[in-house]
Amino acid sequence: MDFKLPVIAPSLLASDYSRLGVQVDECLKAGANWLHCDIMDGHFVPNISFGPDVVAAIHNHAPDAFMDVHLMIENPDRYIDAFSDAGADIISVHAETCPHLHRTIQNIREAGCMAGVAINPATSVSSVEHILQDVDIALIMSVNPGFGGQKFIESTYKKLNDLKVIKKQQNIDFRVEIDGGVNHDNIEKLVKHGVDILVAGSTVFKAPSVSERITELKKIASHIPGSMV
Ligand code: DX5
Ligand code: ZN
Repeated sequence: MDFKLPVIAPSLLASDYSRLGVQVDECLKAGANWLHCDIMDGHFVPNISFGPDVVAAIHNHAPDAFMDVHLMIENPDRYIDAFSDAGADIISVHAETCPHLHRTIQNIREAGCMAGVAINPATSVSSVEHILQDVDIALIMSVNPGFGGQKFIESTYKKLNDLKVIKKQQNIDFRVEIDGGVNHDNIEKLVKHGVDILVAGSTVFKAPSVSERITELKKIASHIPGSMV
């Protein structure tokens, strides 16, 4: 994965869907070309968002953007090919939805995408310990999945520490992505806890200027010792 870390990844869930192309352009203008797409099915999570056709439309509008697809759906294996065909670069699945997680990760790779494992706030890092060597990303939910605009769950920091320990003990390399409640106030602490990719929904899209807000967030991240933005 060849990105300057940490990455600010705008979550399109919070965007104005009636102006999706314009909002994507604003992200790109501020150098945020990693676009987080939240896919919700109304079963695994209570909300319904959008599907592969919308991902394809965004990909066709911005072919150079990196499409980060977060599947919050039951039976994700059924949809891997559809999202791969739509232009997904990475597909993350929830451990809670995958009885055969290792096979699902293999299926994502066979479809030509990078693979991530996501866990809910109540799921322990140890439950995915034996898949971390096989994924590109560990996606740590810092809110309960389903909605944007929720408050960051503070106990997430302990999980980030657990991931650091596993990385070191097992000498494996994967990126850490945090999703939910990210804002100006916690970016610094998150990066210091080893986060590489910061998903930011409402803090970006509810701002008066999307591109200015992304620029501000990137500036904060760039001042953290050790960061490479
Ligand atoms: C929640 C989604 C998040 C969400 C984050 O289920 O996975 O990506 O859009 O939104 P904010 O940044 O508003 O918490
Ligand atoms: Zn998400």
